[in-house]
Amino acid sequence: MINTSNCTHLAIRNAAKSLIAGNLVAFPTETVYGLGADATNQEAIARLYKVKGRPTDHPIIVHISSIRNLRKWAREIPVYAMNLAKIFWPGPMTLILPKTELAKDFITGYQDTVGIRVPSNPIALSLLSEFETRGGLGVAAPSANKFGKVSPTTASDVVLDLGGLLASEDQILNGGDCLIGVESTIIDCTRNEPIILRPGAVTKEQLQNFLKFNKSVNVNLNSQVKYSGSLDSHYSPVAKVFLTGTPNIGDGFIAYSHIKTPKGAIRLASPKNNEEYAHLLYKSFRYADFEGISKIYVIPPNNYGVGAAICDRLIKSSYKNLT
Ligand code: TXA
Ligand code: MG
Repeated sequence: MINTSNCTHLAIRNAAKSLIAGNLVAFPTETVYGLGADATNQEAIARLYKVKGRPTDHPIIVHISSIRNLRKWAREIPVYAMNLAKIFWPGPMTLILPKTELAKDFITGYQDTVGIRVPSNPIALSLLSEFETRGGLGVAAPSANKFGKVSPTTASDVVLDLGGLLASEDQILNGGDCLIGVESTIIDCTRNEPIILRPGAVTKEQLQNFLKFNKSVNVNLNSQVKYSGSLDSHYSPVAKVFLTGTPNIGDGFIAYSHIKTPKGAIRLASPKNNEEYAHLLYKSFRYADFEGISKIYVIPPNNYGVGAAICDRLIKSSYKNLT
């Protein structure tokens, strides 16, 4: 039976000890739940890949408690990347940087770079601090779902997806609902200018606003570069997602609140703005699967702010229906 703890300080400390001992711990972040393992422990990482069903050439983000630990994992850090880290960490942003010796191939998918993030969720931060106090250097954590499926935003999502695959020593820290609901912004910082590889809640507009004060930094956020290991089809519920067309009776429907539900369709979410849209998206997908709804019709949000991240996930989750 998997231990799903409420997040007392004791539970967090025990979870940190468990990570040090080589076990897996699922924990909340402000974006989605992660499935954590000691990023330096090859055996633990191998089990993490197995539980997730993830190909081993697909790299995993290393989570640290503070910018102070960044140089343990990354080298040749451009000034603009350091500035981004100072401004947006702790927060929903992952930086891709050249790796140090510490970041082994089993974490980076045999690449020369490493993905690093300092999350802002207090439980995640506390877990990372406790882990580091005990000698840990970083927690590798992909989203705590089966590979290619919808990321979990509650502890019960994690139990449903992975509960049966975790060992009795593993743990799930229950920190309630994730604030944001979509994964972090991933920024490639290996060139002269930052490139967004995966949009998230740290938005293109925020980055551009910030970078314009640093005249020496060029920014090319419109680049269509894809991050390594990315797949066109991802973030998929069992239900088919359609971004065009009209739902029939019994089909699911997601749109801004001011848009009326087509006759006979089942309203899954009515967000008032893009932040609410992000927060509700994966929940709606999961609810549809739970209810056995086989088709979801979505009217995507505008592309502004976190809307870009939502549109990105919607395109990927609907891809299989386009081919
Ligand atoms: O919000 C998030 O980022 C969540 C929470 C748990 O932190 N994590 C997450 O991890 O979404 P994951 O593994 O589901 O997605 C991370 C993506 C992967 O597609 C991976 O290819 C990319 O980040 N990635 C990680 N390290 C990379 C690297 N060195 N180079 C390029 N892409 C990298
Ligand atoms: Mg994921």
